[in-house]
Amino acid sequence: MHSQCSIAVLISGRGSNLACILEAQEAYTVCSVISNKPDAAGLEFGKAAGIRCLTFPREAFPTLDAQKSALYQGIRSCTPDLVACAGFMQILRGDFVQEWQGRLVNIHPSLLPALAGLDTHQRALDQGHREHGCTVHFVDAGVDSGAVIAQARCRVEPNDTAETLAARVLSLEHLLYPWVLNQMARGQIRFDNGKATFTARCCREAHERGFLLPTIDGAKHDDREDPT
Ligand code: GRF
Repeated sequence: MHSQCSIAVLISGRGSNLACILEAQEAYTVCSVISNKPDAAGLEFGKAAGIRCLTFPREAFPTLDAQKSALYQGIRSCTPDLVACAGFMQILRGDFVQEWQGRLVNIHPSLLPALAGLDTHQRALDQGHREHGCTVHFVDAGVDSGAVIAQARCRVEPNDTAETLAARVLSLEHLLYPWVLNQMARGQIRFDNGKATFTARCCREAHERGFLLPTIDGAKHDDREDPT
């Protein structure tokens, strides 16, 4: 991407990932914050930063489909290069996912493909996982099933509760998501044929930071000259 990459961030709640994404703007600019919940606390971060905030509450539309169509039109009106879901709690319609394929990403609080869906921290404990973490992935038509971009992991400690584990994973989310978005904005991570591809420099940086990238089998590694 030659001019500064612009990102629309979709939220439904607290917005702690949004706050970190705003803080870490280097290669990208957040052009808008968009929510299906007008009372989402995270909107305050967008407002404080002087960023365009749009809300599309379900109650304001006759049908769920009408609300979703308006929300998607709102995103288009901001002409972002990328759309980043950060605690956005509404299933995206297939036509929208298709339209934004490779430019639509999400963060999920587990090491996908393990623990797709809700209540990941309690389920990690219940299932006796020794490791847990978070995943940034491309969004596809399934639930938390799109191609993995990068992961950050932590140990599950013997005395962990869902709350202590959630806090440990959240602190990893706050590092991982802005890093991935800056890498995408710099062209160091790309979407190619349904998979994430990485430059050698990106792989090195991920390694230095302790982030995991999909294995060679799961992802193509990009041999192009470094784009930056
Ligand atoms: C995060 O745990 C994220 O992984 C999940 O929803 C939560 C959002 O938290 N998708 P916040 O709104 O960014 O604080």
